[in-house]
Amino acid sequence: MIDMDPQAHLTQIHGQHPETAKQSLFGFYQDDKPLYHLEVEWPGIGQLIPSHKELIKVDSIFGKGPAVLNKLKVGLDIADKLYIGRHTLIDCCPYLGVLSLNAIFAADLMIIPISSDYLSLQGAKKVEQTLTAIEPVLKRPIHRRYLLTRFDRRRSMTFEVQKKAKQLFGEQVLDTVISENVAIAESPEKGKDVFSHQPNSAGANDYFALLMALARDGWI
Ligand SMILES: Nc1ncnc2c1ncn2[C@@H]1O[C@H](COP(=O)(O)OP(=O)(O)OP(=O)(O)O)[C@@H](O)[C@H]1O
Ligand SMILES: [Mg+2]
Repeated sequence: MIDMDPQAHLTQIHGQHPETAKQSLFGFYQDDKPLYHLEVEWPGIGQLIPSHKELIKVDSIFGKGPAVLNKLKVGLDIADKLYIGRHTLIDCCPYLGVLSLNAIFAADLMIIPISSDYLSLQGAKKVEQTLTAIEPVLKRPIHRRYLLTRFDRRRSMTFEVQKKAKQLFGEQVLDTVISENVAIAESPEKGKDVFSHQPNSAGANDYFALLMALARDGWI
């Protein structure tokens, strides 16, 4: 997993913040450290490349030239030669700057969460517009799926947002949804993923269904 969000929530859940920015993903951008030098173990899960608040500087230090936009893709291609068969999950921040563009350029599939409310749908519309504008530059389709999260079946707005998302993004909206669920809300505080925290919860079931749907479509 790569924590590409300077807020570093994923790193916080892992429990060990790197002491210096150099030991985080920032070291890859600033000092050209290979990605595998930055990995830390996450027992039972895999490896994490942690984030650091300094990562926010990447946007101002580096311009938006093709070299920096392709940097993560190149770094991951090198890492792939060492660890064939590993899947990489990149956690992005909501802002579409250099970091998120790096993730978009490197990824086979983007998952865009829409928490089932109106503002989140507006955010997703902006993401869709940006991706449509980037595709001609990349000269390949950006494969993406919209995932409705915090899906609260007691609210009619939830179903309105789902309907609108399907009108806007069509087949790109996943049929699997993630329910509003207390086990998901609690698990970060426990420093756990939802599967270890509450394996039989609706939240764990929903995320498992998501994995199955992605596997069925050949993404994992
Ligand atoms: N399906 C859900 N049910 C209940 N609570 C949820 C659900 N999804 C997320 N949350 C709550 O919202 C918090 C933040 O969620 P999320 O992990 O999406 O945010 P983030 O990564 O910190 O935010 P962002 O990347 O948008 O800045 C979680 O810690 C959890 O408490
Ligand atoms: Mg996040």
